[in-house]
Amino acid sequence: MTRTATTLYCFGVLTFFACRNESPSGSNDPALFQEKPASTATFSAQTTPSSGGSGNFESLVADGENKDRGIWQKPNMVISLLGDLDNKTVADIGAGTGYFTFRLVPKAKRVIGIDIDPRFISFLDSMKVRLPEIYQKRFETRLSLPNDPLLRPGEADAVVIVNTYGYLDNRIQYLRTLRKGMSSGARLLIIDFKKNNLPVGPPDHFKVALDEVERELVSAGFRIDKIDKDALDYQYIVIASAP
Ligand SMILES: C[S@@+](CC[C@H](N)C(=O)[O-])C[C@H]1O[C@@H](n2cnc3c(N)ncnc32)[C@H](O)[C@@H]1O
Repeated sequence: MTRTATTLYCFGVLTFFACRNESPSGSNDPALFQEKPASTATFSAQTTPSSGGSGNFESLVADGENKDRGIWQKPNMVISLLGDLDNKTVADIGAGTGYFTFRLVPKAKRVIGIDIDPRFISFLDSMKVRLPEIYQKRFETRLSLPNDPLLRPGEADAVVIVNTYGYLDNRIQYLRTLRKGMSSGARLLIIDFKKNNLPVGPPDHFKVALDEVERELVSAGFRIDKIDKDALDYQYIVIASAP
């Protein structure tokens, strides 16, 4: 797809949501985002990590905002794993369409939606202006680099990386760089798809196995606090912290 066609597409998506007067997640108020039951779950196989790339934008938008996602993603439960965020700055790395970003905004002091793809940054910015003013002030977007989330030293008190870990190249180095952007004791939450030919998520060969994530975190100097393979049907959860 050409840049112009992509821009038109983005505009179309945003106009669609604007015309329906709702956010891509189906609610005007992110504070009202709920875990919704759904019949079937999909997450397109087209949204595969490619070397340093961001996958197919259109598929990522459709998948990220799939109304069925709530049933298997359990966003409220996931966010609760970060603890009390009242006075915390949270970075969402690989924010995409803001599935988690916008759900974090009502709960945290500040949220940084980070992505390497300018189209997602534009998308997030266009949704930001529709938030209540109090939430707009708490939220900023940040266009990052493939090898650096561009956090200032100690800036983030919590970091989430959801369905994005496999997109990162040179992950141990990336994690080391990320660590510098985290405050002492800050929590890192990584959630990604389990292997096993699931009905959602990318094909198995694009996924990063849980034990590989563990090894890489430890190599990068993180402490692993918790691993949960059961709470979510299709994804594992890793909670680590920066000593
Ligand atoms: C499958 S989407 C996940 C989006 C969101 N976290 C979610 O769960 O809906 C992966 C996102 O990671 C972004 N991404 C890929 N490589 C990245 C990198 N090195 N740094 C930051 N974001 C990256 C892509 O542009 C894309 O928006």
